[in-house]
Amino acid sequence: MLKESELFSAAMTARLHAYAPWSHFRVGAAVQMASGSIYAGCNVENASFSLTCCAERVAIFQAIAAGETQLVGVVVITDTQPAASPCGACRQVLYEFGPDAEILMADLEGIQRRARLRDLLPGGFGPEDLRRGQKPL
Ligand code: THU
Repeated sequence: MLKESELFSAAMTARLHAYAPWSHFRVGAAVQMASGSIYAGCNVENASFSLTCCAERVAIFQAIAAGETQLVGVVVITDTQPAASPCGACRQVLYEFGPDAEILMADLEGIQRRARLRDLLPGGFGPEDLRRGQKPL
Protein backbone atom coordinates (compact mmCIF):
# COMPACT_ATOMS: atom_id res chain seq x y z
CA MET A 1 0.00 0.00 0.00
CA LEU A 2 1.38 3.37 -0.98
CA LYS A 3 1.40 5.88 1.85
CA GLU A 4 0.39 8.69 -0.46
CA SER A 5 -0.23 11.43 2.05
CA GLU A 6 2.97 10.68 3.99
CA LEU A 7 4.93 10.63 0.74
CA PHE A 8 3.35 13.93 -0.28
CA SER A 9 4.18 15.66 3.01
CA ALA A 10 7.73 14.30 3.08
CA ALA A 11 8.28 15.62 -0.45
CA MET A 12 6.71 19.00 0.40
CA THR A 13 9.01 19.38 3.40
CA ALA A 14 12.09 18.41 1.42
CA ARG A 15 11.09 20.85 -1.34
CA LEU A 16 11.40 23.67 1.20
CA HIS A 17 15.11 22.82 1.31
CA ALA A 18 15.61 22.78 -2.47
CA TYR A 19 18.92 24.42 -3.36
CA ALA A 20 17.94 25.99 -6.66
CA PRO A 21 19.57 29.43 -6.86
CA TRP A 22 20.23 29.06 -10.62
CA SER A 23 16.92 27.80 -11.99
CA HIS A 24 14.63 28.84 -9.13
CA PHE A 25 12.77 25.61 -10.00
CA ARG A 26 12.17 23.91 -6.67
CA VAL A 27 11.50 20.18 -6.63
CA GLY A 28 10.66 17.85 -3.76
CA ALA A 29 10.57 14.06 -3.95
CA ALA A 30 9.92 11.16 -1.63
CA VAL A 31 10.33 7.43 -2.19
CA GLN A 32 8.64 4.56 -0.40
CA MET A 33 10.63 1.36 -0.11
CA ALA A 34 9.36 -2.23 0.37
CA SER A 35 9.75 -1.96 4.16
CA GLY A 36 7.28 0.94 4.11
CA SER A 37 9.99 3.45 5.02
CA ILE A 38 10.00 6.82 3.28
CA TYR A 39 13.02 8.89 2.26
CA ALA A 40 12.88 12.41 0.88
CA GLY A 41 15.05 14.61 -1.31
CA CYS A 42 15.19 17.99 -2.98
CA ASN A 43 17.10 19.21 -6.01
CA VAL A 44 20.64 20.38 -5.30
CA GLU A 45 22.07 22.68 -7.95
CA ASN A 46 25.67 23.68 -8.56
CA ALA A 47 27.44 26.67 -10.10
CA SER A 48 28.87 24.08 -12.47
CA PHE A 49 25.37 23.41 -13.77
CA SER A 50 25.80 19.85 -15.02
CA LEU A 51 26.66 18.67 -11.51
CA THR A 52 23.12 19.43 -10.32
CA CYS A 53 21.30 16.48 -8.79
CA CYS A 54 17.52 16.09 -9.12
CA ALA A 55 15.25 15.63 -6.11
CA GLU A 56 14.29 12.07 -7.13
CA ARG A 57 17.89 10.91 -7.18
CA VAL A 58 18.67 12.56 -3.85
CA ALA A 59 15.67 10.71 -2.36
CA ILE A 60 16.53 7.27 -3.76
CA PHE A 61 20.18 7.67 -2.77
CA GLN A 62 19.07 8.40 0.81
CA ALA A 63 17.13 5.11 0.74
CA ILE A 64 20.10 3.16 -0.60
CA ALA A 65 22.40 4.70 2.01
CA ALA A 66 19.95 3.52 4.68
CA GLY A 67 20.22 -0.04 3.34
CA GLU A 68 16.96 -0.27 1.36
CA THR A 69 16.95 -1.33 -2.27
CA GLN A 70 13.35 -2.18 -3.23
CA LEU A 71 11.46 0.82 -4.51
CA VAL A 72 7.66 0.74 -4.55
CA GLY A 73 6.57 4.34 -5.06
CA VAL A 74 7.72 7.89 -5.68
CA VAL A 75 6.10 11.29 -5.29
CA VAL A 76 7.61 14.22 -7.15
CA ILE A 77 6.33 17.74 -6.53
CA THR A 78 6.76 20.76 -8.77
CA ASP A 79 4.92 24.06 -8.79
CA THR A 80 3.86 23.65 -12.44
CA GLN A 81 0.77 22.87 -14.49
CA PRO A 82 0.79 20.08 -15.37
CA ALA A 83 2.87 18.59 -12.54
CA ALA A 84 6.26 17.58 -13.99
CA SER A 85 7.34 13.99 -14.44
CA PRO A 86 10.84 12.72 -13.58
CA CYS A 87 13.61 13.48 -16.10
CA GLY A 88 15.14 10.69 -18.16
CA ALA A 89 18.21 10.33 -15.95
CA CYS A 90 16.06 9.91 -12.84
CA ARG A 91 13.81 7.38 -14.58
CA GLN A 92 16.88 5.28 -15.34
CA VAL A 93 18.26 5.53 -11.80
CA LEU A 94 14.89 4.68 -10.22
CA TYR A 95 14.39 1.76 -12.65
CA GLU A 96 17.38 -0.04 -11.13
CA PHE A 97 15.49 -0.36 -7.83
CA GLY A 98 11.86 -0.84 -8.92
CA PRO A 99 10.73 -1.05 -12.55
CA ASP A 100 7.17 -1.54 -11.33
CA ALA A 101 7.23 1.40 -8.93
CA GLU A 102 4.34 3.81 -9.09
CA ILE A 103 5.28 7.40 -9.92
CA LEU A 104 2.95 10.03 -8.51
CA MET A 105 3.28 13.51 -10.00
CA ALA A 106 2.05 16.34 -7.84
CA ASP A 107 1.71 20.09 -7.72
CA LEU A 108 1.54 22.02 -4.46
CA GLU A 109 -2.12 21.08 -4.04
CA GLY A 110 -1.70 17.33 -4.31
CA ILE A 111 -1.19 14.37 -6.62
CA GLN A 112 -2.30 15.16 -10.17
CA ARG A 113 -1.40 12.08 -12.16
CA ARG A 114 0.28 8.71 -11.85
CA ALA A 115 2.15 6.20 -13.99
CA ARG A 116 4.15 2.99 -13.69
CA LEU A 117 7.88 3.56 -14.02
CA ARG A 118 8.09 0.90 -16.75
CA ASP A 119 5.58 2.87 -18.80
CA LEU A 120 7.66 6.04 -18.38
CA LEU A 121 10.81 4.17 -19.43
CA PRO A 122 9.72 1.61 -22.02
CA GLY A 123 12.38 -0.95 -22.89
CA GLY A 124 14.45 0.24 -19.92
CA PHE A 125 17.91 -1.16 -19.26
CA GLY A 126 18.33 -2.75 -15.86
CA PRO A 127 20.15 -5.30 -13.70
CA GLU A 128 18.56 -8.20 -15.62
CA ASP A 129 20.24 -7.07 -18.82
CA LEU A 130 23.65 -7.21 -17.16
CA ARG A 131 22.93 -10.65 -15.68
CA ARG A 132 22.00 -11.96 -19.13
CA GLY A 133 25.38 -10.81 -20.43
CA GLN A 134 27.40 -12.55 -17.72
CA LYS A 135 29.58 -15.45 -18.87
CA PRO A 136 30.15 -18.39 -16.51
CA LEU A 137 33.59 -18.31 -14.82
N1 THU B 1 14.80 18.71 -11.52
C1 THU B 1 14.48 17.76 -10.58
O1 THU B 1 14.83 17.89 -9.40
N2 THU B 1 13.78 16.68 -10.98
C2 THU B 1 13.36 16.44 -12.26
O2 THU B 1 12.81 15.39 -12.55
C3 THU B 1 13.56 17.47 -13.29
C4 THU B 1 14.43 18.61 -12.91
C5 THU B 1 15.57 19.88 -11.10
C6 THU B 1 16.98 19.94 -11.61
C7 THU B 1 17.25 21.42 -11.59
O3 THU B 1 17.68 21.79 -10.31
C8 THU B 1 15.91 22.05 -11.86
O4 THU B 1 14.94 21.05 -11.58
C9 THU B 1 15.71 22.56 -13.27
O5 THU B 1 16.00 21.58 -14.20
